[in-house]
Amino acid sequence: MTELVKISIANGVMEILWNRPDKKNALSNAMYRAATAALAQAIEDKSIAAVILGSTGDSFTSGNDLGDFAAAATGGEATAAGGFIEAIAQFPKPLIGAVPGLAVGVGTTMLLHCDLVFVADDAKLTTPFVTLALVPEASSSMLLPARIGYARSFAMFAMGEHLTGKQAAELGMANASMAASEVLGAARSAAAMLAKRPLGAVMATKKLMRDSDTILKQLRAEGAVFAERLRSAEAMEAFTAFHEKRAPDFSKL
Ligand code: COA
Repeated sequence: MTELVKISIANGVMEILWNRPDKKNALSNAMYRAATAALAQAIEDKSIAAVILGSTGDSFTSGNDLGDFAAAATGGEATAAGGFIEAIAQFPKPLIGAVPGLAVGVGTTMLLHCDLVFVADDAKLTTPFVTLALVPEASSSMLLPARIGYARSFAMFAMGEHLTGKQAAELGMANASMAASEVLGAARSAAAMLAKRPLGAVMATKKLMRDSDTILKQLRAEGAVFAERLRSAEAMEAFTAFHEKRAPDFSKL
């Protein structure tokens, strides 16, 4: 079976690369679990100083696998997204995002938990939760407005507006935007630099900068509403429409 997440460790840096290019790197439960386990390993392994979250192919990720969401909504396997989100929200070492292209849903919200982000100029960052009859997750209802302002965030969440990578860098959601072919290299250079810094001081700085209790409280509040929305008729219509490659019709519900 193809490795859906490529995980490697070299020179004090772990790389977690989404690797499902035929599905634009849509994140399945197995992929979340693999990444969550890798993050736990990165905490335990004292030689690891930083973790890169990146991807193979043109896309970062098209977000949660909508087939998995539909299955979870109808009593199938519960989504493993929550475990991954809690893991990145509490991850104590530097997380570096490398985004070569499309970042949908959790693809964008996970960047809010990264300490450094490098993004392609023409990357497309979207959070179309309301389009799917869902609500924001990963504490993004709090973290995104804090980064880019309320009005712009609401337009992204509720109206499906997107940011380009260039805009994300200008607005402070990313450190820099560049050619897509350069983002992983930029993340690797930053990680190599961080690996030479005193890790205790780096971790203490991250801890001071992130109020993880408040972040966790918000993401759990979102999670409760999200779970309710996931089981709604509106969400089922959105997932079915995606599967059937048609526009959703919420008017009959
Ligand atoms: N879950 C499951 N499969 C997905 C997916 C997702 N989130 N995103 C893309 N795919 C699959 C498509 O079904 C398609 O599979 P197929 O080749 O078997 O038909 C393949 O990936 C390529 O996607 P496609 O839609 O043909 O590419 P595109 O360039 O026209 O559009 C997207 C790309 C990402 C804009 C579009 O696929 C999309 O809107 N996906 C859903 C994104 C989403 O809502 N994510 C959840 C956010 S919470």
